Amino acid sequence: MSNKRNVTKAIFPVAGLGTRFLPATKSIPKEIMTLVDRPLIQYAIDEARAAGIKEFIFVTSRGKGALEDYFDHSPVLEQELARKGKTALLEDLENTNMDSGAIAYVRQYKALGLGHAVWCARRLLDPTEPFAVLLPDDVIAAEKPCLQQMVEAYSETGGSMVAALEVPQEKASSYGVLDINGNVNDTTVSVKGMVEKPESGTEPSNLAVIGRYILSPNVMQNLHALKKGAGGEIQLTDAIADEIAADRGVFGYKFKGKRFDCGSKAGFLQATIAFGLSRPDLRDELSAYLKTLPA
Ligand code: UTP
Repeated sequence: MSNKRNVTKAIFPVAGLGTRFLPATKSIPKEIMTLVDRPLIQYAIDEARAAGIKEFIFVTSRGKGALEDYFDHSPVLEQELARKGKTALLEDLENTNMDSGAIAYVRQYKALGLGHAVWCARRLLDPTEPFAVLLPDDVIAAEKPCLQQMVEAYSETGGSMVAALEVPQEKASSYGVLDINGNVNDTTVSVKGMVEKPESGTEPSNLAVIGRYILSPNVMQNLHALKKGAGGEIQLTDAIADEIAADRGVFGYKFKGKRFDCGSKAGFLQATIAFGLSRPDLRDELSAYLKTLPA
């Protein structure tokens, strides 16, 4: 079945303005801000690679040059580390190297929304091929990387799939929330609707959509149709909802793992502490410091 083809391409929409991190984002793209010593984008790339992604499409914008530079290989640095016998550091660095041509960059000239950003990548996708979308703001700590979990689930369902996070009712109004048909199995639900930022008390479920998607190529066509009709922002959720209207499967996947909203300052700080505590070289010193803080 065409909608169950392997997922080998991923889109990383990184063209947003990152206003919540101003003034830093005047000159630093949000995606290369670091959790401990790795930029946010590195976590997303590692997750995509673990899921079998081979081609990486970045939708960028003005001022994102440092993000592109980050992926350049650094032979001088590598030689220097080798000369000094810093093999662990060298290995770390080499593991971030990407194959030549594996990353493509397209520009989004106006920040017209997530759906519009995804649509900007249309010419780099095969029109019969499913694709993944990862938002690097959402960092997910998981034993098995989240997108890999989804690719495995998707091989059973086909269609389109969004990552679903259980949220407390009072938080649901800041997310897109799934309206559910029923359970496919323990981890996958069939979706009959999506409500963007529902008013408190009207949430159709406690399952919120977060930044991991596996999308049918139809979604790109839906974005194209929305683009023709739209004056302003184009929402990805609308293009996915069109799949439901067309009676094609949309699924929510309840991933195992802890998600951090690194697009917000509080989430970024929480992730910094959690990832710091998970590092053997930092754990003791950091937790000793945290214990000195007033409760
Ligand atoms: P956000 O809603 O977090 O917006 O976008 P933002 O600009 O990154 O950050 P704030 O809210 O101003 O602080 C979610 C994701 O969608 C991308 C962003 O880069 C981010 O990865 N995006 C959003 C685009 O690529 N283009 C857009 O037009 C909007």
